[in-house]
Amino acid sequence: MAHYDVIILGAGAAGMMAAIEAGKRGRSVMVVDHAKFPGEKIRISGGGRCNFTNTNTQRDRFLSHNPRFALSALSRYTPTDFIAMVKRHGIAFHEKTLGQLFCDSNAQQIISMLTTEMRAVGVKLALSTSVVSVNKTVNGFGVALSDSNATCDSLIVATGGKSIPKMGATSFGYQMASQFGLRLVETRPALVPLTFEEGALERLKPLAGIATDVTVSHGKTRFDEALLFTHRGLSGPAILQISSFWREGDEICIDLLPDSDVMALLREARAKSPKLQIQTVVSAWLPKKLAQLLGEDLEMPGMIGDFSDKKLAVVADALTSWTLKPVGSEGYRTAEVTLGGVDTRDLDAKTMAARAVPGLYFIGEVVDVTGWLGGYNFQWAWASGWAAGQVA
Ligand code: FDA
Repeated sequence: MAHYDVIILGAGAAGMMAAIEAGKRGRSVMVVDHAKFPGEKIRISGGGRCNFTNTNTQRDRFLSHNPRFALSALSRYTPTDFIAMVKRHGIAFHEKTLGQLFCDSNAQQIISMLTTEMRAVGVKLALSTSVVSVNKTVNGFGVALSDSNATCDSLIVATGGKSIPKMGATSFGYQMASQFGLRLVETRPALVPLTFEEGALERLKPLAGIATDVTVSHGKTRFDEALLFTHRGLSGPAILQISSFWREGDEICIDLLPDSDVMALLREARAKSPKLQIQTVVSAWLPKKLAQLLGEDLEMPGMIGDFSDKKLAVVADALTSWTLKPVGSEGYRTAEVTLGGVDTRDLDAKTMAARAVPGLYFIGEVVDVTGWLGGYNFQWAWASGWAAGQVA
């Protein structure tokens, strides 16, 4: 039976990073994945260009029951460290917006970089290989695979979250955590489009395809990004971001004209074009169909010239505090990430080791650390993988 110093379950972003680092320390490493290719989520990420990190990485960009947990790994392996590797491999990249770094060409370059680094330190990559079972041995772990059995001193679980099962996502990591007595924080889809009940959806459907810059808020949390109307409801970066905070039964509030003094705009329109209907006035600032929908909702016929300040304030409120009540989300089918996961109380923040099970580690998305949209989730995968790779 083959023995490795380290076996890593999952050849995604976190697993490959951990393999490189453990390999650099001279450890014999095998990475196992049931997929045909490594890094499938990297390949499709960032619209095919992989938003591989964010230069604004800081603690408040991550959701977790223990927001301090991610700090150690994130501060020891930073965006600058990953950028240095990207540059060393001659991969051209650019900042799109808000510190988000993307490949100029395509995401495959990041996968090739990681597999090249793994090869350089002798990591064995076992693809199309399923994990049948894992058991604790006296000195480490026994791993039964679909085509062989192996043992290892250290076992790193990097099997990701539940998002996009079509791409090979499984609950395996959570099952492993339970098997070894670690607690789990309830999971839910995050960075996911929001859906609406039939009646509301019928009204929104004609807007499908329209994108507009908004500020979307849920309680005190707010994001200034684009919103996209779809046939199923709302999507776009602003909605994906707020979806990580939204819960069933909650409303979201949308400012359709962020950074504008809407009352001043309306007064100006009243003075300049008193004969216009409110819908026509608003369509100068918003996509026409959206202006039409809001106009219908307002039920304020007549010319703007006849509107009192009080009436204009109602219009301003409708434009800046458009309140909607999603009924749900598109779920794991399209969610970019999974909130919750392996409870950080049972992991060591510096090494990602399970406190009560020597030699067992959990890294990446399977852990209860979830980033905002914008490259933060990969930065967490790199940083947590790096941390485990220093010690496993
Ligand atoms: P990841 O899911 O990458 O890897 C887990 C691996 O384990 C997979 O290869 C899987 O096949 C394997 N596996 C699972 N179960 C197994 C089992 N039972 N046996 C064997 N192998 C198993 N983030 C970001 O920062 N920037 C971005 O641009 C994007 N874009 C993006 C787009 C889309 C469409 C999605 C779905 C997600 C993103 N993300 C993102 C999120 C990002 O992809 C995600 O957070 C990381 O890939 C997580 O890395 P992990 O290595 O933890 O899991």
